[in-house]
Amino acid sequence: MARFIFLLLAFLILITDVTIISICNGNSVHAVCIESEKKPLLKFKQGIVDRTNRLASWVSGGDCCRWTGIVCDNMTGHVIELHLRTTPPWEVDYYVYDEEADEAYERSRLGGKISPSLLHLKHLSYLDLSNNDFGGIHMPKFFGSLESLQYLNLSGANFGGEVPHHLGNLSNMKYLNLGNNYYHTMYVENLHWLPSLSSLEYLDLSYVNLIQASNWFHALNTLPSLVELHLSDCQLPYQVNPIASVNLSSLATLSLSLNYFQNLSVINWVFGLKNLISLDLCDNDIEGSIPYGLRNLTLLKHLDLSGNYFNSSIPNWLYTFAPLESLNLRYNDLKGQISIEIDKMNFIVDLDLSYNSFEGRIPIRSIGNLCNLRSLSFSGVNLSLNISNVLEVFSVCVSNKLESLFLDDCQLYGQLTNQLGNFKILRELDLSENSISSSILESIGELSSLKILYLFQNKFKGNLPESLVNFPI
Ligand SMILES: *[C@@H]1O[C@H](CO)[C@@H](O)[C@H](O)[C@H]1NC(C)=O
Ligand SMILES: *[C@@H]1O[C@H](CO)[C@@H](O)[C@H](O)[C@H]1NC(C)=O
Ligand SMILES: *[C@@H]1O[C@H](CO)[C@@H](O)[C@H](O)[C@H]1NC(C)=O
Ligand SMILES: *[C@@H]1O[C@H](CO)[C@@H](O)[C@H](O)[C@H]1NC(C)=O
Ligand SMILES: *[C@@H]1O[C@H](CO)[C@@H](O)[C@H](O)[C@H]1NC(C)=O
Ligand SMILES: *[C@@H]1O[C@H](CO)[C@@H](O)[C@H](O)[C@H]1NC(C)=O
Ligand SMILES: *[C@@H]1O[C@H](CO)[C@@H](O)[C@H](O)[C@H]1NC(C)=O
Ligand SMILES: *[C@@H]1O[C@H](CO)[C@@H](O)[C@H](O)[C@H]1NC(C)=O
Ligand SMILES: *[C@@H]1O[C@H](CO)[C@@H](O)[C@H](O)[C@H]1NC(C)=O
Repeated sequence: MARFIFLLLAFLILITDVTIISICNGNSVHAVCIESEKKPLLKFKQGIVDRTNRLASWVSGGDCCRWTGIVCDNMTGHVIELHLRTTPPWEVDYYVYDEEADEAYERSRLGGKISPSLLHLKHLSYLDLSNNDFGGIHMPKFFGSLESLQYLNLSGANFGGEVPHHLGNLSNMKYLNLGNNYYHTMYVENLHWLPSLSSLEYLDLSYVNLIQASNWFHALNTLPSLVELHLSDCQLPYQVNPIASVNLSSLATLSLSLNYFQNLSVINWVFGLKNLISLDLCDNDIEGSIPYGLRNLTLLKHLDLSGNYFNSSIPNWLYTFAPLESLNLRYNDLKGQISIEIDKMNFIVDLDLSYNSFEGRIPIRSIGNLCNLRSLSFSGVNLSLNISNVLEVFSVCVSNKLESLFLDDCQLYGQLTNQLGNFKILRELDLSENSISSSILESIGELSSLKILYLFQNKFKGNLPESLVNFPI
């Protein structure tokens, strides 16, 4: 009898093992869709205009956890994520306009209406409808009742109207992106609802009209977890009330571009954000000197001050105050000489100094020491240099990593030499509107990574080399 029991136990253990193995072989534990969540999804589909039939797998017979764009909790089977973004062709690197790709994209964008049946998805924590086209309809108020929502991405989805203050109910929200709805039809009456989103880490309200939100800074200043904030082209009203203290101690990325502040005093609080890594103040028509307050931002890696009226010279401290990897000073009115100290920018990868009014010689040898450069632009700056000398200086190390070189309208002269062949990974080259002479060299054809090439308005003679005949210029 004892022996029999032992055998039986061994058998049971074996069975149990087999069962476990069979589950693991199914790639991952897979829960099946819950009926009461499948119906609301089908209802949602009914409201959606889907011209390219992206939701073809959404049929009543199937397991909704296997449908396109749906993620279920693998233990409970509840629908937890809805990924229905459309990816535009220009998000691809070095996109060149392609009408067909563009039309295919437009057709594939989902539209129509959003059914409130989504409210039955009690565990939905992630909703991405970005880059679809809802034709400017109001963003549904009931989004504010999707209690489990932590992630809402409506970027470029073309919603309009007032942003519902009901969003303030979503206290678990970590990521809220209402940006890039370029038609400018989204607005807020105030931001009183914002402080309730106390877990918020990412906020993008770019192109949402905030002109009525006179308290905007104070509302934001209550969000201690905020790491990334985008407020481009929001018509931000000038801050009137004095700011007691800046609370945004986690903020690492800040974009305030296209708000036409004019006067820097409106945004002095920015210089108290000591943990900033990325700051974008482009297109704000700010006048005067490059602000000294930037020196407080010693962790900064990315700084964009383009499209303003900064009219000082570049102060030497700008090269060393922070480990800058990208610096954009394009379209300002910067004067004076560029100092040889520019070679102290040990980390610089993207440098754009184009369209300014610098005086005197550009210290090309110092720039030749910036060996990490991936992109360099001096467009519209009077360099008055011999292109063959420029190529020689850059061949020492700049050529190693350089992908984009913009030296158009720089008063370059002399001849293009074979040293161009050293720029092995160059993808964009603009030497147009200079006085470069001689025939175009075969070495251009050797640049196998080259995608974009501009040489017009120079003094070239002769024909295109063989290697360039098939080049898509
Ligand atoms: C369940 O899903 C989580 C993520 O949602 C994943 O990390 C995990 O590996 C999955 N578990 C199994 C057994 O598939
Ligand atoms: C939100 O959507 C936009 C547009 O599709 C995309 O670029 C962005 O990466 C998305 N955000 C996240 C965190 O996925
Ligand atoms: C959601 O927010 C709205 C407006 O702020 C409010 O009227 C409503 O009571 C809130 N609902 C819940 C469930 O908290
Ligand atoms: C800063 O945060 C503290 C604590 O979170 C809060 O008491 C204070 O009111 C906040 N200050 C401002 C100016 O919002
Ligand atoms: C900027 O604002 C400050 C404070 O309001 C003011 O004193 C100054 O005159 C303004 N500067 C310009 C150029 O408008
Ligand atoms: C810069 O930092 C110093 C020292 O911490 C501080 O006193 C000053 O107020 C800061 N400047 C700005 C503009 O926040
Ligand atoms: C820079 O601009 C300010 C404000 O417009 C002006 O007062 C100042 O004279 C300008 N400085 C230079 C060097 O042009
Ligand atoms: C460009 O700079 C050179 C040398 O600094 C100078 O001689 C020349 O006049 C400048 N050209 C223009 C158009 O400013
Ligand atoms: C440009 O530099 C090259 C090499 O140093 C030299 O041979 C050439 O004469 C120069 N061209 C002009 C126009 O100065």
